Amino acid sequence: MTSNVMQHEHAHRGAILQGVRNTIAVASGKGGVGKSTIAANLAVALAMDGAAVGLVDLDIYGPSMPLMMGIKKRPGMSGQKLLPIENWGVKVMSIGFLVDPMQAVVWRGPMVSGAVKQFMSDVEWGELDYLVMDLPPGTGDIQLTLVQTIPLTGAVVVTTPQDISLADALKAWKMFDKVDVPVLGVVENMSYYICSHCGAREDIFDNGGGKRAAEQLGVPFLGEVPLYTSIRVSGDTGTPIVADPAAPVQSAILRSIARNVAAQVSIRNSARAGAPAVDIQLL
Ligand SMILES: Nc1ncnc2c1ncn2[C@@H]1O[C@H](COP(=O)(O)OP(=O)(O)O)[C@@H](O)[C@H]1O
Ligand SMILES: [Mg+2]
Repeated sequence: MTSNVMQHEHAHRGAILQGVRNTIAVASGKGGVGKSTIAANLAVALAMDGAAVGLVDLDIYGPSMPLMMGIKKRPGMSGQKLLPIENWGVKVMSIGFLVDPMQAVVWRGPMVSGAVKQFMSDVEWGELDYLVMDLPPGTGDIQLTLVQTIPLTGAVVVTTPQDISLADALKAWKMFDKVDVPVLGVVENMSYYICSHCGAREDIFDNGGGKRAAEQLGVPFLGEVPLYTSIRVSGDTGTPIVADPAAPVQSAILRSIARNVAAQVSIRNSARAGAPAVDIQLL
């Protein structure tokens, strides 16, 4: 990216995310589909590929990044700024450090967006290639206000494979479309289960809903993540599966999804910058 483009991007982001080149929201039509799992592994995978990455947990109702990223301390301060806590090569911050989820349940959209805006501008991220954001599940007023508050490069929509997830993915897509945030693609999580005893595949939640959703929405399908006990355990123990050398299969699946996301971010950026066609001078 040229410095001109970077300046433009920074201006576009406004004051709240200076120094952050790309912001990626991970969203879902409903809770429990593995949004936080995908967000954490996406962030760590991008860092493993050499990017400077931040991960921010904005799920005010159910912040899970401290647990999933294995963070036990609370953030320190530098002057008026909160310092993210680094683990697994990623700078992590959670709104859970500041907001009591029990309190947030009764908040209205403007209160949430006010708190999030304040929170986002109070964090000292430094220079980042990607800031991955774990949004609260759903597509209601609160989520809409949030995606308007934060300047986003694009969004990743996580669904499970049932056909009903198509309706949820459509709702998420509509929400982002309303505020002109491009959907970078769809990830299907909990795609199928491989029996750890006999090796047989079971399509517990049906099959192919994520791919169908992506096709109908005209956005890329970024990949599918099967159900693995090891992925659940990794979340509970604070070691993202992509960083676990004992889980090469799971790691490869999630790292490939992260590379697909990075490719979509690059495509969007060059389209926005109006990159000139390559001009080869023949001598
Ligand atoms: N592919 C997967 N295989 C096994 N367990 C998973 C998988 N994805 C998520 N989980 C588990 O399912 C639960 C819900 O996932 P989470 O990421 O917290 O969902 P959300 O953020 O959408 O509510 C967690 O216990 C998580 O470890
Ligand atoms: Mg979550």
